[in-house]
Amino acid sequence: MSLRIFITLAVLAGIHGSPTITVRPGSEALDVSAHPNSVPETAEGTEEEVLVEEGTEEEVMATGELNPSHYPAQRAAKVVQHYLNTRYGSPYRWVGLHRVHSANAEDVADSGRKYRLEISVQEMISNATEKCSAELLLPGAESSQSSPQVQASCEALLKIDTAAQEEALYQQYKKNNSLLSGQNLPDSYGHIDPEMKPLWHLGGVASSFVMLKESTENTLYSMAQVANVTQLETENNQLRFNYHVLLHDMVSQEIIHWKLLVTWSPAEGVKVLQTEKLPKCHDCEAPPNTN
Ligand SMILES: *[C@@H]1O[C@H](CO)[C@@H](O)[C@H](O)[C@H]1NC(C)=O
Ligand SMILES: *[C@@H]1O[C@H](CO)[C@@H](O)[C@H](O)[C@H]1NC(C)=O
Ligand SMILES: *[C@@H]1O[C@H](CO)[C@@H](O)[C@H](O)[C@H]1NC(C)=O
Repeated sequence: MSLRIFITLAVLAGIHGSPTITVRPGSEALDVSAHPNSVPETAEGTEEEVLVEEGTEEEVMATGELNPSHYPAQRAAKVVQHYLNTRYGSPYRWVGLHRVHSANAEDVADSGRKYRLEISVQEMISNATEKCSAELLLPGAESSQSSPQVQASCEALLKIDTAAQEEALYQQYKKNNSLLSGQNLPDSYGHIDPEMKPLWHLGGVASSFVMLKESTENTLYSMAQVANVTQLETENNQLRFNYHVLLHDMVSQEIIHWKLLVTWSPAEGVKVLQTEKLPKCHDCEAPPNTN
């Protein structure tokens, strides 16, 4: 398994690491090299180099003090990243994993493995980096519980003041007579039109709701792309969007298609009301260059 992960990460660096998005100076600078399409830069180098050393004992040896750059610690930290997005995310607040400082794991009889983590996360629109502590339980194969349980707080993320931007975007989307739509965020060159970026961020935050729920000891999810997004009629002052997103599991190398019904308003935050995992199909294979 380790070798496969190594290859995937190397390939991903190739896919997502290329084009840099140019952003107007002084505006919400978005460092694409650090967005969640890729394992954050800091992790990437170390993870690649370290994972190769890991033998097949990795599954059974993943307790005690963990190497912060190894797969088990990184995977647990990514789950915390998704959790923080479900708590704090918005079209102007999107959390990525910056670095794992320390990680500790212990087996919990019948229910899985419990992790204690000290991590830094990066808010990718303001590029602010914050330290947070987290505890999580990843369900094991025999566990009746199917989704991770996470406790983490990172109140510093709330200090990043996005209220004015959110209100302006909300009014703009709400007032527009024609409903917005977009596709291929980012496109195959890694480009996203500046006016579509809030919808991309929102798609990333919404995807974290799914990735949090779906994560297990054997997954490492990231959002690869918003295939398309369509705005629906506003209801009860909530903007509504149909999203079609592509999630990538680095362990199985699968690209998984999900349809999400997402609502957002500055007052109520982001909610994912419906999720539908689409069956595998010929169009749903991993990009050709991952082979
Ligand atoms: C974002 O912050 C990191 C340090 O936290 C820094 O290395 C990087 O250059 C910053 N990127 C941008 C685009 O400001
Ligand atoms: C309104 O929607 C149209 C069509 O999607 C779009 O081209 C335009 O930029 C939007 N205007 C605003 C102010 O968002
Ligand atoms: C969205 O993208 C998916 C995958 O490419 C495609 O199957 C679907 O028809 C698209 N939907 C819309 C509304 O464009």
